Amino acid sequence: ASTATSFLPTDRSLHSLANAAECCRACDLHQHATQTVFGRGPIDAKVVLVGEQPGDQEDIAGEPFIGPAGRLLNIVLEESGIARSDIYLTNVVKHFKFTQQETSRGKRRLHKKPDSREIFACRPWLEAELQSIKPQAIVCLGATSAQALFGRDFRITQQRGLVTATEWSKRTIATWHPAAVLRMPDETRRQQMRNQMVNDLQLVGG
Ligand code: URA
Repeated sequence: ASTATSFLPTDRSLHSLANAAECCRACDLHQHATQTVFGRGPIDAKVVLVGEQPGDQEDIAGEPFIGPAGRLLNIVLEESGIARSDIYLTNVVKHFKFTQQETSRGKRRLHKKPDSREIFACRPWLEAELQSIKPQAIVCLGATSAQALFGRDFRITQQRGLVTATEWSKRTIATWHPAAVLRMPDETRRQQMRNQMVNDLQLVGG
């Protein structure tokens, strides 16, 4: 299967990686996405947060977590005592995947989950980011990210909130994806997930 390995630069600094990723063609998602949305944050960040894939607004702006999920993430980070400017934010898949939907108000781009081929293809970028930063802690946001770092058997409902060593950081943890919190219809449950996110982040940040 195709992977991003052949697109990786010889110089593995974050800056070179970000530049090289702009031209990645390892999977087909670049065809319809506006641009590569690479990770953002300090090169010496102590904490790295890993999401699933950029959304509609991220695709347009070229920055991770600036849409609705990012706004919830900002609130949760603040409650956890973690400054967003101190952390590095990235995604398992670096291009937006969507379907066009006709609505009465025109076309809308609806997010589609990345499949295993796209996740596999994009993985070298995430590994290179983590190898360059060598963070003290990694937070996986949601099941896609958790399964990318802990393996396919990881169950977010059972294993969230547990600090575990992975080859990328001694302190790797998974928590809810902010978009999953936003989508939760039950108010009590939504509040509980939000509180769990704060607790999980406090275990590795702050
Ligand atoms: N959801 C993600 O997983 N990542 C983003 O960057 C935005 C929304």
